[in-house]
Amino acid sequence: PVLVVDFGAQYAQLIARRVREAGVYSEIVPHSITAEEVAAKNPTGIVLSGGPSSVYEEGAPALDSKIFDLGVPTMGICYGFQVMAQSLGGEVAHSGLREYGSTGATITGDGGTLLAGQPTDQTVWMSHGDQVSKAPEGFEVLASTGSTAVAAFGNDERKLYGVQWHPEVKHSAHGQAVLENFLHRAAGIPADWNPGNVIAEQVDNIRAQVGSARVICGLSGGVDSAVAAALVHKAVGDQLVCVFVDHGLLRQDERRQVEEDYVASTGVRLVTVDAREQFLTALAGVTDPEQKRKIIGREFIRSFEQAEADLVREAQADGEPIRFLVQGTLYPDVVESGGGTGTANIKSHHNVGGLPEDLQFELVEPLRTLFKDEVRAIGSELGLPDVIVQRQPFPGPGLGIRIVGEVTAERLELLKKADSIVREELTAAGLDREIWQCPVVLLADVRSVGVQGDGRTYGHPIVLRPVSSEDAMTADWTRLPYDLLARISNRITNEVDGVNRVVLDVTSKPPGTIEWE
Ligand code: XMP
Repeated sequence: PVLVVDFGAQYAQLIARRVREAGVYSEIVPHSITAEEVAAKNPTGIVLSGGPSSVYEEGAPALDSKIFDLGVPTMGICYGFQVMAQSLGGEVAHSGLREYGSTGATITGDGGTLLAGQPTDQTVWMSHGDQVSKAPEGFEVLASTGSTAVAAFGNDERKLYGVQWHPEVKHSAHGQAVLENFLHRAAGIPADWNPGNVIAEQVDNIRAQVGSARVICGLSGGVDSAVAAALVHKAVGDQLVCVFVDHGLLRQDERRQVEEDYVASTGVRLVTVDAREQFLTALAGVTDPEQKRKIIGREFIRSFEQAEADLVREAQADGEPIRFLVQGTLYPDVVESGGGTGTANIKSHHNVGGLPEDLQFELVEPLRTLFKDEVRAIGSELGLPDVIVQRQPFPGPGLGIRIVGEVTAERLELLKKADSIVREELTAAGLDREIWQCPVVLLADVRSVGVQGDGRTYGHPIVLRPVSSEDAMTADWTRLPYDLLARISNRITNEVDGVNRVVLDVTSKPPGTIEWE
């Protein structure tokens, strides 16, 4: 693998993704890794990430400098560039000046191996206070900016390189090409990481892990569990059985998509648990959002465990016990839980993937090394339908947290209709990829006066919450075209009984969260 050394902040994940986009498998490692540990991983290359610190700060994240002597091609980015300069006898100056944002850079000469083929003048994305004032001996300066004399350097003999800017962000016009020059030209790593290879490798891993035992998987209708199960099915066929809990809080057509489209494209064996009544009963009279979330999470586990117990009994009678549980854990979850940074509990999230860690099963996690966009690519490669592979995020507690007020069967019906109109219109307008998601919320405890035909109405408002986001941590409200909003509003007020008003949520996150509850 190519190791991406993490010096803090979110830079490392983005770099790891870009390396993979260049067709090279990457893994994130902490900066505390030793040269021996690096050598043991037998990396084909190393990228040192940026980070929020100054190399002069007390406690600034350091790197075992013996790593530079391993003979592994290494590239430093921003803070990683400065760490490399300092370790190898160059100079880093604490100028007190900050260079931040889009900056003009000028390539020196032909740019060397790292910047070969790049336009002499280009826009790069900078974010630094310190700067490399002198390159280490034996290093060639490859670029400069107005205020930074050494903005990139390289040493072909030792295969060590660095750039002050952030090639991993899209604002750096030729950033991806810098990474690709490093990976393919300098380090000589072929571009052979692609969905087909990932599938073949995972199928082998799953077979080796599972043997002839049976496997169980909870499907949510979302991308991750769908792709994880499809991979496991490809590996072990009908040793896998999937359980889908219909909690009645799904959107229109979702159950059918899982039961028909997904099953037809994968051939998995599926057991649906119809728990609609059970959930409605448990939610009766409840209006508090956190309480709703807890109840939905609890009931979900109950229904899953019931189905599980039946299947376990059945398998036991068959002589081939269920020993494994599939989970759709993704690489960012793995990295983030390893990072151990405690974040405040804003909402108690419930994931269908996040089933109880039932000790009776061993986990199969075929997506553990993958980013979301890779999971989608693999899903497509496996032949899953677009409605599932390209699905936007949808919360585990479903429509239950999009009804402000008590959840009832009638309200769910009403919200499903409004939601399906919104989805239809957004799809027709070609905006599915542009917006991150668009929760549709029913304010069940609010009524307002309206007029329809000749009569007075006293109905509920529907809130549209279209948002644009990269990762759901922050979001902005999406500026949907007015005529689209008009069409949605007309259709909802005409087609959905009980709704006489449509309003638009124009709050970013923060301060608003994406969901209303
Ligand atoms: P918030 O409302 O916290 O949502 O801004 C951030 C993202 O998470 C989704 N979401 C959930 N996803 N289980 C999930 O799997 C949950 O309990 C849950 N709650 C919110 C939300 O749709 C958005 O994409």
